[in-house]
Amino acid sequence: MDDTGFGRWARLIRERTGLHIGEERRGFLLAGLRDRMRASGCEDLEHYYRRMRDLRGHADEWTRLVDRLTVHETRFFRHEPSLDLVRSVFLPWMQRLGQDGLQVWSVGCATGEEVYTLAMLLEGHRLETGFPQRYAVTGTDISLPALRQAREGRYSARRVQSVPEPLRQRFFEPEDGGFRVVASLRRRTAFHQLNLMALARYPLRDFHLIYCQNVLIYFERSLRLRFLSQLAERLVPGGMLVLGPGDVPVWSHPFMERVAFEGTLAFRRLAQAEEEGDV
Ligand SMILES: C[S@@+](CC[C@H](N)C(=O)[O-])C[C@H]1O[C@@H](n2cnc3c(N)ncnc32)[C@H](O)[C@@H]1O
Repeated sequence: MDDTGFGRWARLIRERTGLHIGEERRGFLLAGLRDRMRASGCEDLEHYYRRMRDLRGHADEWTRLVDRLTVHETRFFRHEPSLDLVRSVFLPWMQRLGQDGLQVWSVGCATGEEVYTLAMLLEGHRLETGFPQRYAVTGTDISLPALRQAREGRYSARRVQSVPEPLRQRFFEPEDGGFRVVASLRRRTAFHQLNLMALARYPLRDFHLIYCQNVLIYFERSLRLRFLSQLAERLVPGGMLVLGPGDVPVWSHPFMERVAFEGTLAFRRLAQAEEEGDV
């Protein structure tokens, strides 16, 4: 693939998904294109480009290509300090504010491990303390194959290894040599396709907790900042945004304040009166 060819693929992918494919990832792009061309029976790169550009009749193939070009690496209980923050700061905070019926959103949830981790954490807290009585965890991602797996809640024994044993016993059942998340926990979750580039079009709002880790790193700085503002607007006053510690070097927003908790990067949306400058 020559420079012009690379430039036009990188542009098309950036315009549609926001993902930045730099020169150093040219080989990765080419390998992905070759895989998808082989799988879809297309032998000519120019022809494949035109299909993907025009999309008509090829939307499914576009989804598969995006899936091939995105990184879905994830695991259960991935970042313990952030989970500790949710347990020891977020939940007591919500309880004090009298907020029951918590809405949680995992943005860029890949194959669902993050969603079920949060659901296990909330359910564990509910069983121990009675709070929150009601909650739901929504996972969104651009990748349909990843979401399909997430919805099923089936994982290999190796993947489930990072779940602490008491939680594995409580929230998983053995199935075909692997494990499946129990139905009672799956019922607390929902998965939807959402492309961050089109976030403004989705009617998602009023979340108490937005958890977005290891997603923003794939975007250029200006897009990261745009997504962060859009996420902040989707929190209830007092709600919390938890990012991965290295996801954004510097960010400030008029109605968000940094939450100081070691090893984490999190922000709290100010309460209504604070936003209006009454306190
Ligand atoms: C590395 S995974 C992070 C998984 C999980 N949040 C974690 O930290 O373990 C990044 C996810 O972001 C998703 N993603 C990439 N571009 C996206 C976009 N434009 N809109 C929504 N999700 C996107 C990918 O499909 C992938 O599943």
